[in-house]
Amino acid sequence: MEFRGDSWPNWTGCDRLAARYDDEVLSSFDSDLSGAIERCLDGLAGPDKTVLDLGCGVGKYLAGLAERFGRVVAVDHSEKLLEIARRDHGERRNVEIRRLDASDGRAVRGVRAHVVVCANVVIMADGELRDAILQVARKSMKRDGRLVLVVPSLESALLAQRRLAEWHERDGAEAPEEDAEEEGLAPSKRTCRELLRGVVRIGDVPTKHHLADELLLTLRRAGLDLEELDRVHYPWESEFGDAPHWMRDPYPWDWLAVASRRR
Ligand SMILES: C[S@@+](CC[C@H](N)C(=O)[O-])C[C@H]1O[C@@H](n2cnc3c(N)ncnc32)[C@H](O)[C@@H]1O
Repeated sequence: MEFRGDSWPNWTGCDRLAARYDDEVLSSFDSDLSGAIERCLDGLAGPDKTVLDLGCGVGKYLAGLAERFGRVVAVDHSEKLLEIARRDHGERRNVEIRRLDASDGRAVRGVRAHVVVCANVVIMADGELRDAILQVARKSMKRDGRLVLVVPSLESALLAQRRLAEWHERDGAEAPEEDAEEEGLAPSKRTCRELLRGVVRIGDVPTKHHLADELLLTLRRAGLDLEELDRVHYPWESEFGDAPHWMRDPYPWDWLAVASRRR
């Protein structure tokens, strides 16, 4: 049983990760089993509209955004990831790619977006940094704009742990729970404390996972109202490289939240 911890986004080492990005980081846009992200964007897009891709990484969303919106501004603090985004999407006439560190909480210069996409960016363990990035999103939106936020689900991480135990049980293990713990969330004082904060180690990277209702509260605190909450489902192979064929739905997921600016 191969627990694919190291395949999850490592935001801290993004520059270092650039060369191996496709192998290491799951693309929510490309792996979305039921097309929830594209459906959501279809409902919000338009040729006269501007979209900001906040924390664009190598630009996995850019082709889809460029097709749907009149103007696309993509920002990220990792110069190495931006190099790849520029190589792959720099020629698109309606796409503008800029370096920006969103930790200062300030609006993106010259942008009042109809839609801000922020996909798997507010995933760091540092809550103040997550809040600052949400402020950048809020301040860069038009008054009637929308934020499309994709974040890891804590419920899904716990479900993955249950499925790992089920897998060991089906394989006839004597102590399936213990085996699953060793490979999965591996309880220790430290990991339990992190888990209480919704932080789960992916590989060795502490990654914030959100409860549905916690997301509502987080957005509210940032001056944003949650309007819709959907799921982006992924195949089980995104969690376990060698997931058995019987492991089907319910699939693991990220939350897909649509929020508006509080008036
Ligand atoms: C897991 S990647 C997701 C990339 C892209 N949104 C996607 O879904 O394919 C997280 C991205 O957030 C960016 N990021 C993290 N902190 C940031 C900050 N303070 N300012 C700008 N970008 C940041 C990282 O550089 C990285 O590209």
